[in-house]
Amino acid sequence: MPTDLNDLLDLMSSQGVHLPQTYVSAVTEVCFSGSFAANSEAQHRLHGRMFQDPRVLGYRFLRHSAHETIGARIIADVAAQVPSDAHDGIREKMESHASDEFRHGRMFKTAAERLFEFPSDEISKIQKETSDHKQDFDKKFQGNIKNFICSTHLGEIRSYFLLESYISIAKNLSDQKFHQVKAMLEVIYGDEVRHLIYTGNYLTEWMKNDSTLCEFFKKMLSVYSDESNHEKRILMSYNQNYANNVSAII
Ligand SMILES: [Fe+2]
Ligand SMILES: [Fe+2]
Repeated sequence: MPTDLNDLLDLMSSQGVHLPQTYVSAVTEVCFSGSFAANSEAQHRLHGRMFQDPRVLGYRFLRHSAHETIGARIIADVAAQVPSDAHDGIREKMESHASDEFRHGRMFKTAAERLFEFPSDEISKIQKETSDHKQDFDKKFQGNIKNFICSTHLGEIRSYFLLESYISIAKNLSDQKFHQVKAMLEVIYGDEVRHLIYTGNYLTEWMKNDSTLCEFFKKMLSVYSDESNHEKRILMSYNQNYANNVSAII
C-alpha cells in the first residue's frame, strides 16, 4: 500500500510544523483525488516490479542520482543569491540542503553501479537531460525565493512518498543486496524528512500572509505529478519486456 497522506501530515505536525488550513486543503485535494502520482497505488505496484529487475532498479537509481545532483546545483546556486541575513538564516539551511542532495546523488550512483554495469552512453544521456533541465530553470527563475522553497518542498513530498514506497518493498526482500539498498534509502529518507520540515516551517509562516503562494503551491502540485507520470513512462519504455509485465498490472 502506498503511504497515506495523513502519515505525512502527522509527521510534520509531530515535528512542530503547524500547517495552515490552506496548505492542508490544497495537498488533500490533490493527493486524495489520486492526481499526485507519487503516492498512487499504480506507482507503488510499479516500484514492486522494479525491485524484481536489478537493471531497471539500477536505471531508476541512476535517474535519481542525476536528479538529486542537478537539484543540489540549483539549490546551491539559488542559495548564493540569498542575502545571509534573509529569512532567519535560510541561506545556511539551503547550503546544507544542497550538500545533502549532492551526497544523495553519489549514493544513488554507487547503488546503481552495484546493481548493473551501465554503458557510459546511457549515463551521459541522463546527465544531458538533467543539465537541460537546469538550463531551463536558469532561464525561468526570477529570484522569487518563496516560490522556490514552495517548489522545493513539493519535491521533498514526492521524495518522501517514493522512499516510503521503496523502503516498504525492500524490507520484504531477503536477498542480501537489498539490505544495503534499504540501509541507503533509510539514510536518504532521514535527510528528506529534515528538508520537508524546514521548508514546511517557512511555508507555514509565509502562507499566513500570502494567498498567492497557496495558489502557486496548488499549481506546482500538478506540475510535480506530471513529472512523476513522465518518469513512470520513461521507466516503462526502458525495458520493453519490463513494460509488458507492468502494463499487465496497471
Ligand atoms: Fe535528496
Ligand atoms: Fe531533499
